[in-house]
Amino acid sequence: MPPMTAVPESTDITLREGLDGLTPARIATLYRRAPLLRQTDNADQLQQAFEATQLVLSAWQADRLIGLARVLTDGVQVAYLCDLAVEPDVQGLGIGKQLINEVMARCEGAELVLRDSNLSTGFYEHLGFQPIENGWVHQA
Ligand SMILES: CC(C)(COP(=O)(O)OP(=O)(O)OC[C@H]1O[C@@H](n2cnc3c(N)ncnc32)[C@H](O)[C@@H]1OP(=O)(O)O)[C@@H](O)C(=O)NCCC(=O)NCCS
Repeated sequence: MPPMTAVPESTDITLREGLDGLTPARIATLYRRAPLLRQTDNADQLQQAFEATQLVLSAWQADRLIGLARVLTDGVQVAYLCDLAVEPDVQGLGIGKQLINEVMARCEGAELVLRDSNLSTGFYEHLGFQPIENGWVHQA
C-alpha cells in the first residue's frame, strides 16, 4: 500500500487510511458543514456504509476531522468516489487535491468515476477529470 504523503501547504494536517477515529457523529458534522448532501441522520446506517467501503481516507488537524474521501472499488478496474468533503475553514489548502491524489495512488489503473455537485464542478475539471454524459441512476 503506498505511504501517505503530507498535505503540502499545511504541515499540521495528517492523512489516515481506514476507519481510525471516524464516528458517525464526526462524519455527519463534516458532511453537514462542507456541505455534502448525503443521508447522515441514521448513525447505524452510516457506520454500516463506512464499514462496507473498501477505501476510506481522512484528513486530520490534531484530533479534528477536516476531510474525508470514500471510495467503492475493486482496486484495479473501477473506482467510485462516492464522498469527498473538506471543512469550509480549511478548503483551498490542498486537502481535497491530496485526498484525490492518494485515492489515485491506491486505485492505479482503475477508472475513477464520481457524481458531481454544483459546488465542485470546477474542482474536478481543474484536476483533469473529464465529464461523462452516459450515466443513469435509479433508487434501489
Ligand atoms: C470540492 C472540495 C472537496 C475541494 O477541496 P479543497 O480542499 O477545498 O480543494 P483544494 O484546496 O485541494 O483545491 C485543489 C485545486 O483545485 C482548485 N479548486 C478548488 N475548488 C475549486 C472549484 N470549486 N472550482 C475550481 N477550482 C477549484 C484550487 O484552487 C486548487 O488549485 P491549485 O492546485 O492550482 O492551487 C471542497 O471544496 C468541498 O468539500 N466542497 C463541498 C463538498 C463537495 O462539493 N464535495 C464534492 C461532492 S462530489
